[in-house]
Amino acid sequence: MKEKILIIGAGGQIGLELTENLSKSYGNDQVIPSDLKSEGNFANNPYEQLDALDKDALFKIVKKHGITQVYHLAALLSATGEQNPMFAWKLNMESLFYVLDLAKEKHIQKIYWPSSIAVFGPTTPRENTPQYTVMEPSTIYGISKQAGERWCEWYFKKFGVDVRSIRYPGLIGWKSAPGGGTTDYAVHIFHEALKHNHYTSFLSENTALPMMHMEDAIRATIELMHAPSEKIKIRGSYNLSGLSFTPAEIANEIKKHLSEFRIDYAPDFRQAIADSWPKSINDQEAREQWGWKEKYNLEALVKNMLENIKL
Ligand code: NAD
Ligand code: SER
Repeated sequence: MKEKILIIGAGGQIGLELTENLSKSYGNDQVIPSDLKSEGNFANNPYEQLDALDKDALFKIVKKHGITQVYHLAALLSATGEQNPMFAWKLNMESLFYVLDLAKEKHIQKIYWPSSIAVFGPTTPRENTPQYTVMEPSTIYGISKQAGERWCEWYFKKFGVDVRSIRYPGLIGWKSAPGGGTTDYAVHIFHEALKHNHYTSFLSENTALPMMHMEDAIRATIELMHAPSEKIKIRGSYNLSGLSFTPAEIANEIKKHLSEFRIDYAPDFRQAIADSWPKSINDQEAREQWGWKEKYNLEALVKNMLENIKL
């Protein structure tokens, strides 16, 4: 069967790169990016302006294009979610139900929905955090992702819905800007380094967090979606690890290329969020079950970002 793919929230940090990547493999006409925003970046694809909270409009688009798979990316992230908690809960949960129900009712065959390291909380072991552990998230974003994971697994077990998910760490890429997360500093730092040789970090010097190059994250997503169903033993969401570093460590790596670069630190409310998350992730299930392996370490990531960012 020829796949037709709808991407919800395609105008964001992940969606822009995912649309480009899926369009290369499936063809521009087979990939339908959608977002609240007007067309903008999607001249080559059949774009749809869609509010993920408009269930009827979503259904009409699925029928109009004969959609077989949905990548559902629309959400409020950790920092913006804390500033608008009730709306974050509404958007992150209700839109997920609409997509899960489309699959339950057999209008679509497969769903990708991302979770996050935000599902973990201050009582979780922070080093090499395992797939199965204490999970008491302390942000609305994390609570919504943890609840979403449980709902995904429930729809799989109860109705056979083929839903797949990854707990992304902080994602770092040069093609798109981040949209309101706690890990966003690790993208901003490159732009500021290239523009001003200086960056003020909103996280403190020694705050280690799990991170990943966007290219690795997109590849992982597509590999998970292509894996045979029987290999996907986890229908909540998979831990996935790329690398871990602190603001001081990434700054030191940038200094190897830009010797004048300086960083200072002015932690804000995002520090408390970062302090509640793991420092590093154990992803042995993803490695064993569907063959995940990252490509980028810190050195390669920094080199790639500095070479590719065009100001
Ligand atoms: P982003 O904020 O950059 O993009 C989200 C997109 O969704 C935006 O283009 C926005 O316009 C759109 N959107 C918002 N409300 C919408 C609505 N009602 N209807 C339709 N579109 C709407 O986010 P992102 O970084 O691309 O993240 C995508 C997904 O991946 C989210 O679920 C996020 O939780 C998850 N995730 C991201 C990261 C990361 O580091 N980027 C890490 C973990 C998980
Ligand atoms: N990058 C995301 C955030 O900081 C993690 O889910 O919110």
